[in-house]
Amino acid sequence: MKIQYLGHAAFWIEGSVKILVDPFLTGNPTAAVSAAEVCPDYILISHGHSDHFGDALDIAKRTGAIIVGANELALFCQTQGVNVHAMHIGGNHRFTEQFSVKLTTAIHGSAYDAGSREYLGLACGFLIRLDGQTLYFAGDTALTYDMKAVIGDFNVIDVAMLPIGDNFTMGPDDARVAAKWLNPKKIIPMHYNTYPLIAQDAAAFRAAVEGECPGIEVACLTPGQVLELS
Ligand code: NI
Ligand code: MN
Repeated sequence: MKIQYLGHAAFWIEGSVKILVDPFLTGNPTAAVSAAEVCPDYILISHGHSDHFGDALDIAKRTGAIIVGANELALFCQTQGVNVHAMHIGGNHRFTEQFSVKLTTAIHGSAYDAGSREYLGLACGFLIRLDGQTLYFAGDTALTYDMKAVIGDFNVIDVAMLPIGDNFTMGPDDARVAAKWLNPKKIIPMHYNTYPLIAQDAAAFRAAVEGECPGIEVACLTPGQVLELS
């Protein structure tokens, strides 16, 4: 299977199913693909902010993909005429024999801010199990002890996608703590360098994490780059 970084917090995850995460493509200055190019089976949305919700409705309408997210967000999407699967934090659902999603805590807001302004419940992250790999997409979040006591201690994480941009989410220092607590095999930094406000030195983050945690490899993907997992 493969994980492709699409820029900002958007990822394309392709194995036995095709998953698009936080599809902010139109208007994303770093987007590696256009919204018209992607044909996912599932669209995972961590919260309502436009830099995550992005093109989800247009893509779901065009492809019939199922939007997966917190209940309030999913029900809002359902009112827009797309297929949804509503969940909530702490809940796991097996979509296929090889694909399940669990919603994790994220300390963040979730207002839908494109057009009408609606509050879409709680922001979340995702623990994705696909084809034998365990992926943790933290979403937009502060450092939270759940990363140790709930997520890290009970899961062997193959790849963690962690925000490092600071200002709206964890910055590099807190993400280094998250790395220790989660102890994943690999980390993909995200949610940085899209705008000057969240500019970060990903190479310095990689050097710090790999220096402190010898078992962790940090993959700083440029938008469009792919991490292959076997
Ligand atoms: Ni946000
Ligand atoms: Mn964001």
